[in-house]
Amino acid sequence: MAVPNPIALLLTVCFLGFYVPAMSLASSSDKFLLCLSIHVPSQLVLTPTSPSFKPLLVSSIRNAKFVAPATARPPLCILTPTKASHVQAAVRCGRYHGVRLRVRSGGHDNEGLSYRSQRPEVFAVVDLAKLDAVRVDPRGATTWVDSGATIGELYYAVAKAAPGLGFPAGVCPTIGVGGHFSGGGVGLMMRKYGLSADNILDATIVDADGHLLQGKEAMGDDLFWAIRGGGGGSFGIVLSWKVQLVPVPPKVTYFSITRTMKQGAVNAVTKWQKVAPALPDDLSVRVVVQKRQANFQSLYLGNSSAVVRTLHRQFPELGVTRADCREMSWLQYVAYIYFGDAINSSPLEALLLNRTMPLGPFVKNKSDYVKKALTKAAWQKIFTWPSGAADGELILEPHGGRMSTIADTDTPYPHRSGVLYNIQYVQLWNDNGARGNNSTPNWINGLYDFMAPFVTKNPRAAYANYKDLDLGVNKVVGGVTTYESGKVWGERYFGGNFRRLAMIKRKVDGHDYFRNEQSVPPLLLIRK
Ligand SMILES: Cc1cc2nc3c(=O)[nH]c(=O)nc-3n(C[C@H](O)[C@H](O)[C@H](O)COP(=O)(O)OP(=O)(O)OC[C@H]3O[C@@H](n4cnc5c(N)ncnc54)[C@H](O)[C@@H]3O)c2cc1C
Ligand SMILES: *[C@@H]1O[C@H](CO)[C@@H](O)[C@H](O)[C@H]1NC(C)=O
Ligand SMILES: *[C@@H]1O[C@H](CO)[C@@H](O)[C@H](O)[C@H]1NC(C)=O
Ligand SMILES: *[C@@H]1O[C@H](CO)[C@@H](O)[C@H](O)[C@H]1NC(C)=O
Ligand SMILES: *[C@@H]1O[C@H](CO)[C@@H](O)[C@H](O)[C@H]1NC(C)=O
Repeated sequence: MAVPNPIALLLTVCFLGFYVPAMSLASSSDKFLLCLSIHVPSQLVLTPTSPSFKPLLVSSIRNAKFVAPATARPPLCILTPTKASHVQAAVRCGRYHGVRLRVRSGGHDNEGLSYRSQRPEVFAVVDLAKLDAVRVDPRGATTWVDSGATIGELYYAVAKAAPGLGFPAGVCPTIGVGGHFSGGGVGLMMRKYGLSADNILDATIVDADGHLLQGKEAMGDDLFWAIRGGGGGSFGIVLSWKVQLVPVPPKVTYFSITRTMKQGAVNAVTKWQKVAPALPDDLSVRVVVQKRQANFQSLYLGNSSAVVRTLHRQFPELGVTRADCREMSWLQYVAYIYFGDAINSSPLEALLLNRTMPLGPFVKNKSDYVKKALTKAAWQKIFTWPSGAADGELILEPHGGRMSTIADTDTPYPHRSGVLYNIQYVQLWNDNGARGNNSTPNWINGLYDFMAPFVTKNPRAAYANYKDLDLGVNKVVGGVTTYESGKVWGERYFGGNFRRLAMIKRKVDGHDYFRNEQSVPPLLLIRK
């Protein structure tokens, strides 16, 4: 697709009625709202004066620390489209009247960029929660899922309509499909089937000119490549995705084994680093390190006798027994891994289809990738790292298997062959007035600095879906985000793929309309 010709754009816009006559006193915000009112039913556009506005704004905020900033500098309006044409109107009205959009699917962005801006700018939120259809084709083993669906809704619909099939994606059921697929989608089936993004067959997107591109032919190979892991909020608004479903057995096996330091946790994690990425690909064992303990959790695509046999051979230090194992259906598993024993007292529907979640504590997350196992001495340090009053944990997610057979350039997610596992650092704290504000306690930063020698370098890699603004934020010069400022954080998420993403951005959104603190900048070729 060519860079939009401004005259053509103007004509299209005028013709379709996106041009709202300039009333001398009306601001661009007023004109934007008036333009929307022509194309979108008024009950789908809420402004801050509406009593429903704040509840809607907060509805999918997952990180308590962003509630105050988001409500203090709220969007001009929140649009909850029920049709593609409403999204197209938002883009066209926004382009024409100079109002930027933030698009929100599940609202789980680690930095809240789907509903807040750190910059003093006027923006509107396009909240896709009402576009949440899941259409399963059991015979074709495919599904069209709208971006506004949660992964819990996807899991549920797939398992009900197509027993024996599942989909590889993340652990928390309220994550939105839109943001999750856009950034990759790491989960416990990735060692067998790859990321969510590796299983996308097709998609529908509204581009920066407000065109609805239905299918990968319409969007072209480059754009279709970019949206499968190149990060949300940069290339357009993806409305719907066609995914490949994957086989899951009637029973899968879960275990959870906790080892204290006295029980050999340090040795076990040291060994795990080499074992876990090399296990059969239908077995994933992740680790949560917290409070000087290691908790090993599994997903095995098969029954408990097989997993006990395999681990006795390959990881005897863990000492797994049949008694540690629980067999269940894949659907029960995706609820159990998040809700635990609540699945015994609540129906799966209540757990997996409930989009309302309690607003948790304040959170700061960071990430790393490990290619060379850490020494036992390093783990000893990590286990005893002082956490102060705040609660800190590390989640280690094993790669290997299918993840290492996909080329680094097949999708924007470059952390493939050679990666043993990724680390997610999680710090939780309550703003009980002691700190008086939302500054991050320093456990996470201290540990992150300590880890530098042990993890990937030049650049130190990070996962785009564990968004972290500490890695760098964009600078805008002459109305466009600079490539140099984007490169700082971008090469950490995307490695060598960042340059290709920036070239695609230039082609599909050269004016940099879809912009946020960490959106992919257009690579302007005229510069050297
Ligand atoms: C509790 C929790 C658990 C998590 N667990 C995992 C996990 O197991 N595995 C994993 O990989 N990640 C995990 N994540 C990270 C998660 O994948 C990302 O935060 C993801 O981007 C969230 O998607 P969303 O739609 O909910 O977020 P949103 O906040 O709605 O969006 C995230 C970003 O994508 C953009 N975006 C949203 N929708 C669209 C769209 N339709 N088209 C274009 N851009 C869009 C937004 O503008 C924003 O920049 C977790 C996060 C949380 C909070
Ligand atoms: C940080 O990671 C943890 C564990 O995956 C998750 O529960 C939490 O919601 C994440 N926080 C944010 C702000 O994304
Ligand atoms: C467990 O799975 C193995 C194959 O992985 C199979 O041979 C065995 O019969 C199964 N056992 C039970 C009790 O289902
Ligand atoms: C959904 O979850 C919220 C928060 O945990 C809870 O208050 C609410 O009752 C749940 N709704 C249903 C229908 O179960
Ligand atoms: C709030 O955070 C700032 C740093 O951003 C710090 O200087 C200040 O002391 C904090 N306020 C309180 C009450 O802790």
